[in-house]
Amino acid sequence: MPEATYFFPEGFLWGTATAAHQVEGDNTNNNWYAWENESGHIYQNQKSGLACDWWGGRWREDLENAARDGQNAHRFSIEWSRVQPAPDKWDDGALDFYRQMLKGMRELGLTPVVTLHHFSDPLWIYEMGGWENDRTPEFFEKFVRKIVAAFKDEVKLWVTLNEPNGLVVNAYIDGSFPPGKRDFKAAFIALKNLVRGHALAYHAIHDIQPNAMVGYALYYRGFFPKRDWFPPDYWVTKTLKRNVNDVFANAIRSGQVNFTFFKTFVKEAIGTQDYIGLQYYSSDLVSFNLLKPGEFFSKREYPKDAALSKMGFIADVPEGMAQGLRWAHQFKLPIYITENGVEDPDGSMRPTYLLRHLREVWRAANFNWQVKGYFHWSQVDNFEWERGWSQRFGLWGIDPESQVRTRRRSADLYAAICKENGISSKTVRRLAPEAFDILFPA
Ligand code: GAL
Repeated sequence: MPEATYFFPEGFLWGTATAAHQVEGDNTNNNWYAWENESGHIYQNQKSGLACDWWGGRWREDLENAARDGQNAHRFSIEWSRVQPAPDKWDDGALDFYRQMLKGMRELGLTPVVTLHHFSDPLWIYEMGGWENDRTPEFFEKFVRKIVAAFKDEVKLWVTLNEPNGLVVNAYIDGSFPPGKRDFKAAFIALKNLVRGHALAYHAIHDIQPNAMVGYALYYRGFFPKRDWFPPDYWVTKTLKRNVNDVFANAIRSGQVNFTFFKTFVKEAIGTQDYIGLQYYSSDLVSFNLLKPGEFFSKREYPKDAALSKMGFIADVPEGMAQGLRWAHQFKLPIYITENGVEDPDGSMRPTYLLRHLREVWRAANFNWQVKGYFHWSQVDNFEWERGWSQRFGLWGIDPESQVRTRRRSADLYAAICKENGISSKTVRRLAPEAFDILFPA
């Protein structure tokens, strides 16, 4: 039987992504802790609790597994509320913890990608109005300066904000994240401040570390019109793309923050990205629907023929990854897939999902687009925000009670891909035979 391999470019970064509040545990000084402790916000009122006990030192075990499995990079976030527990207080012990982690990563051969804000805010910021407060961007800048001054010799790739466009929707439009609002005006103000926060962070990082690579991680949702023959489906698809995928990117390109009926201009944001961080999970078919004015007159559904994840949260639609990569390519900057993955507790769906999505990444790299790395979400199951522990995204499973990790079949598959810097027919036949004919059709 002829053998073949989808090869990736030399020097490609292969890793997994994590976020402080989701893995560290014992984070008691941020808005998520407050939110989890109010009943009714989280699936079955579950708590992050010890999470994956990274704060207790188990980051080492997980990152050792990652490195042993051929990964050469890891994306994680620094928890603002630990480093700056109060406006006038810095915690050197917390800085030391992250310094140890970075040292450990260096020893393990993992290139660090550091996120400076991944959804959680210090309680003192939350109490002052969070991102609706016009002073929050300056506070954020101060924190960023502290971190970058401390770690500029260890870290080159910085992610200022994780999914600012997703955060605005979750926190201020659908209300699933703190502060749980449903208010377009508040959403717009938070968006404007996130744009400013990003811009101030970008300039601050370059001030301290001129050769840094700075960007943000964008939540990219694939949208496709449901009915080819019906123009209104195209119009609403376009509206969704503009309000979900383009809103932050346009602000960075032109300074124009333009969301629903609101507009403003943030001059210092123009051109503040050195790479595109793309996070892609799933896509919707979109149809025009007069009964849904709050959703831009659109109805969204998953394609009928797409495989669905355990809780129906994610549909396997790699065409959306291709759409996202094409979208990212317009900026003519390096592209990193900073997150992609699927909730799949028994490991039945992840191998095929991973392979089909990676094939789109491979295709883009082979068009000579500047695709530089891929970070799977996630190394190990973790606390999935308002969905608590109900969704399992890990290459490894975890029992949060006992902290015992269990290797899933996908960990073997991803390890082989990282080690070969490609997807070989031998690997797929051995580790994901169910996807063989998709990847290597006869
Ligand atoms: C992303 C988020 C991650 C993780 C993932 C899977 O939107 O950035 O923190 O939760 O979704 O649900």
